[in-house]
Amino acid sequence: MNKIAVIGSNMVDLITYIDRMPEQGETLEAPDFAMGCGGKGANQAVAAAKLGADVLMLTKVGDDMFADNTVANFQRLGIDTQFVQRVPGVSSGVAPIFVQSDSHNSILIVKGANAYLKPADIDAAQGALRDCKLIVLQLEIDLATVYYAIEFARRNAIPVLLNPAPAVAGLSREHLSQLDFLIPNETELALITGKPVDGPETALAAARHLVEEGIRHVIVTLGDKGALYVGEEGEFRVDGRKVAARDTTGAGDAFIGCFAHHWSQDGDIRRAMTQAVAYSACSVTERGTQSSYPDAATFAQFLGTC
Ligand code: RIB
Repeated sequence: MNKIAVIGSNMVDLITYIDRMPEQGETLEAPDFAMGCGGKGANQAVAAAKLGADVLMLTKVGDDMFADNTVANFQRLGIDTQFVQRVPGVSSGVAPIFVQSDSHNSILIVKGANAYLKPADIDAAQGALRDCKLIVLQLEIDLATVYYAIEFARRNAIPVLLNPAPAVAGLSREHLSQLDFLIPNETELALITGKPVDGPETALAAARHLVEEGIRHVIVTLGDKGALYVGEEGEFRVDGRKVAARDTTGAGDAFIGCFAHHWSQDGDIRRAMTQAVAYSACSVTERGTQSSYPDAATFAQFLGTC
């Protein structure tokens, strides 16, 4: 009964490691390339599953060579794929990603089949969703589907978490106020609140504003500075872990997946945040997105050494 439902995207990550971005009209040689399974929804589901969570995934794959690999990847990790559907005549979601030598990234996304995940798909899965301890959402699918999922969760008294990524302006305040958890990064928080956010102090002020509007728990991820909490349990900060970062792609998703897993176990927010800060730090020490997420044993080793 600790099952987590992730309703969201999957993408094929096409990761090019670069020394710098090319100028317009310039052709530039890049040192390396890798392809992997990604997409914010899938990444969060995989992070949770690698840590031992029981995960149900609602997503849509395309009608191409990527689809089988995506489904096989979920199944290899024990993720429930009964509601992963193929859309005829449409491409799978893809994400060309550019990772610089300082570990930072730029990402383009093509939603492809992800745009076909609709409210009717939530209705079709309602029996399975009602058995879940938490519903996890992001913003790489239609906003109407995200809003419908929030309404469904509220109606059925299922806790619901939104990671508002990628950043989207003009989100419905009415829907945001129904969330149990909102977990933005600083950029997303600034866009949602319309307030400047450039560090822990300004993030705290903006997060307080959202809690006043009705969100129960706001957790702001602060990159290598950790994360801060504002909500029903007061206000606190979890410090970041110092690591040698190689590739920060998907670190936010690692945080969400790990947080969802731990919170669904015992409802301890501070403990789940502490684990999630460490898990996302561990993920940036390796290249790739899902490929950089440690399983429970490897993560335990990481915790023992830093
Ligand atoms: O958050 C990282 C993810 O963003 C990548 O896996 C990419 O697919 C995009 O969805």
